[in-house]
Amino acid sequence: MARQIKENVFFLNATDWNRRLFDSLIPLPDGTSYNAYLVRGSEKTVLIDTVDPALEDILSGYLENVEKLDFIISLHSEQDHSGSIPLVLEKYPDAMVITSPKGKDLLINHLFIAEEKIITADNGEELSLGGKTLKFIHFPWVHWPETMLAYLKEDKILFTCDLFGSHLATTDMYVTDECQVYEAAKRYYAEIMMPFRNFIKKNLPLLDEYDIEIIAPSHGPMYDKPGFIMDAYRDWISDETKNTVVIPYISMHGSVEKMVDHLVAALEQRGVKASKFDLSVTDIGKLAISLVDAAAIVVGTPTVQADPHPVVTYAVRLANMLKPKLKYASVMASYGWGGKAIERIAEMIPNIKAELIEPVLVKGYPGEDDLKSVEKLADEISSRLG
Ligand code: FEO
Repeated sequence: MARQIKENVFFLNATDWNRRLFDSLIPLPDGTSYNAYLVRGSEKTVLIDTVDPALEDILSGYLENVEKLDFIISLHSEQDHSGSIPLVLEKYPDAMVITSPKGKDLLINHLFIAEEKIITADNGEELSLGGKTLKFIHFPWVHWPETMLAYLKEDKILFTCDLFGSHLATTDMYVTDECQVYEAAKRYYAEIMMPFRNFIKKNLPLLDEYDIEIIAPSHGPMYDKPGFIMDAYRDWISDETKNTVVIPYISMHGSVEKMVDHLVAALEQRGVKASKFDLSVTDIGKLAISLVDAAAIVVGTPTVQADPHPVVTYAVRLANMLKPKLKYASVMASYGWGGKAIERIAEMIPNIKAELIEPVLVKGYPGEDDLKSVEKLADEISSRLG
């Protein structure tokens, strides 16, 4: 049975307790949920988004007693929200799908929805349901180019789909444990939203004109204190960094680990916080979270067949894709007889607009002079971080 948020506004959540990977890339240690919403006006009824097709039976259960549906609103075309639209259209063949102009093509191409079933909503356009009015706000790149939000004027609810979401399987309708949701929402931001930080920074002020009582995302619980998540986002998208250094690394025979431990200790002595991530065991999501605020990254790698270790290559390419607001970057590499591990890593991070600090390259196991070079790197970092 769908739970009521306000009179004639319902929360249709499908909780995916067991999902552990999203987009075949992103770890989901706490599962996730897909939230659809039903809004009944005196004249029209709309469904806002659907759920991942894997859980479409849950959505069907919610809709069992809904006799008539006039519109399905697709705020975002990714299949975890749009994938059950064909099923809903089968049950309600007269319903029309409303999406943004860019969403139209995506729905046709991904789900084969007939063009004549789709209506596009302009930015600022309103849909009157009878006593309830939805206003569409184009808000691109949260997380695809077509995304939009919908504001239910009479009830002051902002439906945001991926924006402000958290991958969190829970029975809570609203946030009850802010610490837990903060961590999950920051992980979500790091993995999904961070590449689009500048778009969010530009568009977030658009929401200042709305009186928002509830933020209703399509992953994780709703926010009945919207300031909690909006303040967190303002912090994450700001240009400010924290004085922390993130050190993702792999060590095959101890050389890189020795340098990493020496750097961590040297930074600690200089009052700079460092977080090391052994990429052979780390949760890549934790690394992503740390990149949201960090001022610097130092990558540690052995040389394998003249290149960085492939696990390091993966992490560096991922970091480059996430576009963190890092200000400084460097590399500590070891080698046996040659190679270009440092140059290769530098080539892999065009999206990271950081100053490159002189790297440390060690032949074999680091000796005293090498460790002095590591201390010099710590000096260079700490002097820049103030
Ligand atoms: Fe939750 Fe971009 O899909």
